[in-house]
Amino acid sequence: MQKPIRKAVFPVAGLGTRFLPATKAVPKEMLPVVDRPVIEYAVAEAAAAGVTHMIFVTANGKSALQEHFDRHAELEAVLRSKGKTAELKRLAAILPDGVRCSVEIQPAPLGLGHAVWCARQIVGDEPFAVILPDDVVMADTGCLAQMIACYTATGGNLLAVQDVPPDRTDRYGILEVGNDQNCPGGLAEIRGLVEKPAPADAPSTLSIIGRYILQPEIFSALENGEPGAGGEIQLTDAIAALIGRQPVHGFRFQGVRFDCGDRQGWLAANVAFALQRPDLEGIRERLRRLLESD
Ligand code: G1P
Repeated sequence: MQKPIRKAVFPVAGLGTRFLPATKAVPKEMLPVVDRPVIEYAVAEAAAAGVTHMIFVTANGKSALQEHFDRHAELEAVLRSKGKTAELKRLAAILPDGVRCSVEIQPAPLGLGHAVWCARQIVGDEPFAVILPDDVVMADTGCLAQMIACYTATGGNLLAVQDVPPDRTDRYGILEVGNDQNCPGGLAEIRGLVEKPAPADAPSTLSIIGRYILQPEIFSALENGEPGAGGEIQLTDAIAALIGRQPVHGFRFQGVRFDCGDRQGWLAANVAFALQRPDLEGIRERLRRLLESD
């Protein structure tokens, strides 16, 4: 019997430089995909997987993120007085009942591994999830829920993975695959991990997508870790240090992943999610006309 995954860490301290000037005053996680900020997709995915404690690791000057998940009494009062019940429901759905949020500040941009390490006290001695909100996954069953279903059988550490084009390995954590069972669960045993290798040095094209289930021992691996790729403390390196001591598996999830930290990925996510919305059905025809006149 595995301990349940009750907590999820969201590293959201990044500057969003790829999106300037849009992200000069607005955190990149607050950019909308259709009408919900990117961070809301990540939190909804975690809540749907049974997570009840959301931990944001953020930087100073990103208070909009916290405000989004706080109640806004004045706005609610105005909407109530105008009888805008649909809008009130939308606000209430931002954070499902029984879910709470904590905020931890990452004092300096020392890397993803360091951001996760900053959450060690709130996480404590239990397994937890990490969600990188830039990676938005469109799926019938949320990516984290798929992982938790698998984790219940495997235990240990589980990383969401996907094949990427061979010339893009230098953007991801890449797996050296051991026993690739290719079983219905889509599991791959991980023999090694390399952060952002050049295509010529990449052990495979199977790459980490921003969803992890980790055991609390990751914190001591992070504490003892040296700076890695890009001079940053890498989560990938700390997970690699656990291999051989604990099970570490890659999990091929079902769904479409959009990199919303990248302008094209974010635009594609907007189109894809809009096309699924019955209240925006006119978008299909508009897109068709735009493409025809191109
Ligand atoms: C991070 C991880 C990398 C992973 C990627 C997924 O990189 O370090 O291993 O493949 O997220 O999006 P980043 O995108 O923060 O550079």
